[in-house]
Amino acid sequence: MTYPFLSAVQKDFQAVDDLIRSNLNSEVPLVEEIAAYLVEAGGKRLRPLLVLLAAKACGYDGKEHIKLAAVIEFLHTAMLLHDDVVDESDLRRGRKTVNAAWGNSPSVLVGDFLHSRAFEMMVEIGNMRVMEILSRATNVIAEGEVQQLCAVGNPDTSESEYMEIISRKTAMLFQAAAHSGAVLAGADEKAETALRDYGLHLGVAFQLVDDQLDYEGDAQELGKNVGDDLAEGKVTLPLIAAMRNASIEDSEFIRTAIRNGGVENLPQMIELVNNTGALDYTAGQAKQEQCMALECLGEVEDSEYRQAMNVLVNFVVDRHH
Ligand code: IPE
Ligand code: IPE
Ligand code: MG
Ligand code: MG
Repeated sequence: MTYPFLSAVQKDFQAVDDLIRSNLNSEVPLVEEIAAYLVEAGGKRLRPLLVLLAAKACGYDGKEHIKLAAVIEFLHTAMLLHDDVVDESDLRRGRKTVNAAWGNSPSVLVGDFLHSRAFEMMVEIGNMRVMEILSRATNVIAEGEVQQLCAVGNPDTSESEYMEIISRKTAMLFQAAAHSGAVLAGADEKAETALRDYGLHLGVAFQLVDDQLDYEGDAQELGKNVGDDLAEGKVTLPLIAAMRNASIEDSEFIRTAIRNGGVENLPQMIELVNNTGALDYTAGQAKQEQCMALECLGEVEDSEYRQAMNVLVNFVVDRHH
């Protein structure tokens, strides 16, 4: 992946990739095969990038930020392996998901392998505050996933519940990436807080856009299917806003589609999230998070790394994949 904002940490980014690959080793061949399959498919690597930029923006000149970045990407990849089982998704990073290719059990178990490898590497870093941040984050993410599971099929899920879910399941890892990067660098309290909050807003914006793209994206570009959320009756902001704005009849149609799941109604739903302004509303909320993230960055001392984080927010909000 080439990014306009990558030049500031190009070499480190490559080092993260090398470290990720060299840490996939296992004495059990299937573990290695599956882990390599997903890692070789790439991914945007936004979270490790965030670690590098946050650490560098706080003046870090050691080497452990490379390992920390790899840890965060392992945690993310482990979550994807579990998420695709729960969501019954069959396309990820332009390839068949691991659950589609090998089955649910290998996907869950290799997810556990990556998760625990991340913790091994984290212990090697040996920074107690970093461990505290990451263990807290993974715990909150797990809660968010369960909270989301409970909301599946429930058309009465509120916007604030939705915001809580995405803050936990997605934004928490972005927050932990930026926060732990700053802590590793020994940032002062002001920069640490600013970067932590920047990560949170960036992460919320990221998931809002993800949920928007699930209705208007292109599967080829996304490398994952469009309509997966509706298929499983997942209540996201495009649907919540559409129910609010639609006629009573259309609103009832959406409620039924959420209760039943399935993609039969996807074309009508896409029309509804467009015509009711629900996708625009979702994009608007992402823009607000973008502004808040940029405001937080204003608290961090200027550098090429801070500037890269500025561009990163805009990239996340304007992305199509
Ligand atoms: C996917 O994250 C999971 C979400 C939180 C929506 P990414 O879109 O960052 O996944 P990759 O790593 O680039 O494949
Ligand atoms: C992200 O939510 C879940 C994680 C935090 C792993 P989604 O279920 O929307 O992610 P995608 O769309 O499958 O990537
Ligand atoms: Mg999913
Ligand atoms: Mg999604």
